Amino acid sequence: MNTQDLLKTIKDRRNTKSFTEEEVKKSDIELILESGVWAPNHRNTEPWRFVVIDKSSELKKEISRSMISLQEESSNAKLSDDQKTNISLSVAKSPCYIFVFTTIGDTPEITEENYGAVCCAIQNMQLTATTLGLGVGWSTGKISKIKNLKKLLDVDQTLKIVGVLSIGYPNSNIEKSREEFSNLTKWL
Ligand SMILES: Cc1cc2nc3c(=O)[nH]c(=O)nc-3n(C[C@H](O)[C@H](O)[C@H](O)COP(=O)(O)O)c2cc1C
Repeated sequence: MNTQDLLKTIKDRRNTKSFTEEEVKKSDIELILESGVWAPNHRNTEPWRFVVIDKSSELKKEISRSMISLQEESSNAKLSDDQKTNISLSVAKSPCYIFVFTTIGDTPEITEENYGAVCCAIQNMQLTATTLGLGVGWSTGKISKIKNLKKLLDVDQTLKIVGVLSIGYPNSNIEKSREEFSNLTKWL
């Protein structure tokens, strides 16, 4: 890959929330995960932990139930049946979720470095997905905040969630722009 191809992949990556029904191949998820663990990580802590929930996972029902409860608790009101169905359908339709966690360090400094490393891992994963024609949505929203998430996913209670990645084939083109780096950079 030359620099222009790399830059194009970086620019083509878009945060994606809407996907086709097409399932994501397990081999593609494995490539995405492999690229994640090659991220830089200070002190070689390799702090990333992943849980993959594929399209047909039985856990999706529990995830939907937990998201509905969370929403009801945060708004202090019961959701209508339509609202509940919408949440359940959006979870059921999602082609693949990867829950990405970080380990906690022995000091706040190491914990912060670990978080940075896991964010780098996620970016590696997003770029790999882009080259495979897949879109990734990074969420730190409701799905990452469901109660008993770590128990539900059977991961160590000390882990911290960094994001929930929804991965699938995008069903629309999204345009984004960026401020020119020259407006954000001083050369001294
Ligand atoms: C740490 C982090 C958390 C994010 N959480 C969310 C989220 O909860 N919901 C969401 O829609 N997008 C989330 N995003 C994606 C950003 O909204 C997205 O990157 C931004 O809109 C720029 O769009 P682009 O990534 O397509 O260039 C998150 C991104 C990062 C880096």
